[in-house]
Amino acid sequence: MAGNSGKRQVRIRVKRFQPDQKAEAFWQDFDLEVEGSDRLLDALNKIKWTLDGTLTFRRSCAHGVCGSDAMRVNGRNRLACKLMMADLGARITIEPMLGFPVVRDLVVDMDPFLAKYEKIKPYLINDEPAPRTERLQSPEDRDRYDETTKCILCGACTGSCPSVWANAEWVGPAAIVNAHRFIFDSRDHAAAERLGILSDRNGVWRCRTIFNCSEACPRGIHVTDAIEEVKRAIVYGGE
Ligand code: SF4
Ligand code: F3S
Ligand code: FES
Repeated sequence: MAGNSGKRQVRIRVKRFQPDQKAEAFWQDFDLEVEGSDRLLDALNKIKWTLDGTLTFRRSCAHGVCGSDAMRVNGRNRLACKLMMADLGARITIEPMLGFPVVRDLVVDMDPFLAKYEKIKPYLINDEPAPRTERLQSPEDRDRYDETTKCILCGACTGSCPSVWANAEWVGPAAIVNAHRFIFDSRDHAAAERLGILSDRNGVWRCRTIFNCSEACPRGIHVTDAIEEVKRAIVYGGE
């Protein structure tokens, strides 16, 4: 890891797509000075604010919470706001995530991704009358799905999965992570319904245990393990 202080020059190569100007995507290099404490998002903002205002990318929280700035950096999906420039070399290549339709520059269309998320019913289903206070759960039962509550729907896992690249219809890892979050929640009563949805030909079985998803997740979720737990629940029964 490089030091995190001091100015230095970097060249950032960006894959751009400006459909109102040019039908094909093209590469553009930007040379700029960055601080050791800058994150990649700071560098992109610097490009936009001082070199080329047409550069288009999503961002909001700048703190790894909103999930809006996932992009492919030197071949790996990362959140630009969590990536220190000090940890990158002097030549950086940025592309939109693979497996998503590109809208403009680094902005991808999240609608198909969110449609798959909705497909697994990402909300508590329990038709019993609501108790006077909250629906109670033991700490052990809460722990059962704690990790998958941490998903911020950034899409980094889904956009790094070769099975998704090969088949746009496949539900993909992010939707399965969010199904996991409810399937193993003791207060929820729709595990069988979700497992049925994930048993079909575009469900969990298209996962080939490639692990790119786990490596890409900025929240440290063991995505492949969560998918394996859902596969086991389909075969041996949910909890
Ligand atoms: Fe992003 Fe991780 Fe959620 Fe996938 S599981 S959408 S990589 S936060
Ligand atoms: Fe894809 Fe992850 Fe499975 S990379 S094939 S979802 S383990
Ligand atoms: Fe919100 Fe990066 S800007 S996660």
